[in-house]
Amino acid sequence: MSDDLTNIEQDSAQVLPRHIAVVMDGNGRWANKRHLPRIAGHKAGVTATRKIVENCAKNKIESLTIFAFSSENWNRPEAEVSSLMALFVSTISAEVKKLHKKNVCVKFIGDRSRFSDKLQSSINESEQLTEGNTGLHLNIAANYGGRWDIVNACKSLINKVKNNEVSIQELDEDLFDSFVSLNDHAPPDLFIRTGGERRISNFLIWQLAYTELYFVDTLWPDFSDEHFESALSWFAGRQRRFGKTGQQIMNEQLPEKLKSI
Ligand code: FPP
Repeated sequence: MSDDLTNIEQDSAQVLPRHIAVVMDGNGRWANKRHLPRIAGHKAGVTATRKIVENCAKNKIESLTIFAFSSENWNRPEAEVSSLMALFVSTISAEVKKLHKKNVCVKFIGDRSRFSDKLQSSINESEQLTEGNTGLHLNIAANYGGRWDIVNACKSLINKVKNNEVSIQELDEDLFDSFVSLNDHAPPDLFIRTGGERRISNFLIWQLAYTELYFVDTLWPDFSDEHFESALSWFAGRQRRFGKTGQQIMNEQLPEKLKSI
């Protein structure tokens, strides 16, 4: 019996998340520490982003969703917002062909209508180029907010009810879920936030209901492959209960032959 239990423990040590969501915080502080303009921190953040995308692809993670720009980030100084917009355009144009070669499927979530025509075209082109790819799904949240997502889902749902395509009696959590962003993905298993703050900041608030939350003080530009491996090891050690007891979960994980003992 002890051999079988050891195997279970070994297996669980290798459990990888299917879907990872990341708040890439700390770019500004990284730049301040070096007496650089904040945009230098965001540029360094792009390098860290490239690394995690490559690492997820290598580890066969199904989906990675990153928070590039929140609905609240418009409140930053105008110079920082416009530099960030320019960085998004240049990053998308520099990276998308490489991502396509790596079989990555790129999608954006959020309200893109407020972006310039140029940025909207880059976004649309990157999605069209990579839509048939079967490797990592990279979702970039841009002008995204979790509350916006829920209100947007309500609007779509109400329209369906008005058109008699859906009845109120049918409405349940699964149906509602089909109206929010990322409804074609498994919900995030692991949420990572760098930069030392312990909050979700209006990211994927519906989708994160049962996600394991991992906070680390490292500033995003310093987030390395080793930091990512530590997050994965931490995740592998979590027992995900989804409202059940620890004993029930242990029992479900036992091989059939041991359940009857
Ligand atoms: C938060 O750090 C970071 C952002 C608001 C921008 C993140 C964007 C990138 C890393 C670029 C990714 C680009 C693409 C196209 C995916 P902060 O500025 O709030 O840092 P602070 O808390 O130290 O001030």
